[in-house]
Amino acid sequence: MSNNISTPSNAPATTYNKKVAIVGAGSMGRSIAICLAMHQIPTVIQARSLERQKRAIPLLEQSLAECGEIFGWNEDEQKELLNRIKVTVDNADLALADIVIEATSGTLEEHKELYRDLDAVLRDDTVIASITSSISITELSNATERPSLVAGMHFFMPVPLIDLVEIVSAQHTVQETLDQIQELCDAMGKETVYVEDSPGYIVNRMLIPMINEAITELAQGIGSIEDIDRAMRIGANHPMGPLELADWIGLDTCLEILEGLFAEFMDSKYRPHPLLRRKVRAGQLGRKAGVGFYRYKEEE
Ligand SMILES: NC(=O)c1ccc[n+]([C@@H]2O[C@H](COP(=O)([O-])OP(=O)(O)OC[C@H]3O[C@@H](n4cnc5c(N)ncnc54)[C@H](O)[C@@H]3O)[C@@H](O)[C@H]2O)c1
Repeated sequence: MSNNISTPSNAPATTYNKKVAIVGAGSMGRSIAICLAMHQIPTVIQARSLERQKRAIPLLEQSLAECGEIFGWNEDEQKELLNRIKVTVDNADLALADIVIEATSGTLEEHKELYRDLDAVLRDDTVIASITSSISITELSNATERPSLVAGMHFFMPVPLIDLVEIVSAQHTVQETLDQIQELCDAMGKETVYVEDSPGYIVNRMLIPMINEAITELAQGIGSIEDIDRAMRIGANHPMGPLELADWIGLDTCLEILEGLFAEFMDSKYRPHPLLRRKVRAGQLGRKAGVGFYRYKEEE
């Protein structure tokens, strides 16, 4: 976990000078923007609609306050960080970007449509880095006229705290694209690993089946939510229990990742437990919904 950032004001000046835009004002888009702001990199977040643009500001303030408690930022410092983030619905902001981080939810078809639209709006040399946990980067790159400039940049929630990024090389990705993503990761203080485009990459292929197993234990009445989490925190020395981690990730995202693993490998070890499906159907998606395995205060 990051321990080299204390306050926004004393962070070292960045030499990174490329323009970064994020598409998607959801939990990951906001978390990435805060991490960029912590490292003095201004960002534009492209929201899907005016309504989502309006909603994003109080949600960003809330996320900044949560990070502030961890990093010890005061209100002025939180404002300073917020000033480095612009939320927009204007394509003109995207057209200026050197690198676009795509952080949207949706199906493969919805993503392909978005990539075709982005292709038309962005400069020809702009890199698109997808943070998807569940969709093939090669499929996304094939929807564009710039497949060599598309790669994966897989962050972990909460982004300001978790130092790893998996850089994902798709079928047509060229080295210069990976270099640009590495340069941005360096500027954000992230550690990186390189991985081929494959469901779950390195971490989620192990982590999400473990979360699914914790859900199975819960459904079978083996232990309470609190005890399953406490057992893994203390017994396996994990910083977070699997069920609280699932709430951070989002239960919909956990389900999507398992479905992707199951579809690719046809192995029953990746079959999502019905309790996970039931919670997603009920809208109990974790922190972003105010309730998952635990109950949180409402986001808005
Ligand atoms: N949650 C995690 O821990 C995690 C970790 C790594 C990667 N991811 C990936 O991050 C992506 C987003 O996940 P999230 O947890 O932020 O979900 P989320 O539901 O909180 O946010 C998704 C956002 O995308 C927006 N969106 C959808 N289509 C759009 C479009 N065409 N244009 C602009 N915005 C659009 C939605 O309005 C929403 O605000 C997913 O691809 C997921 O696989 C998630």
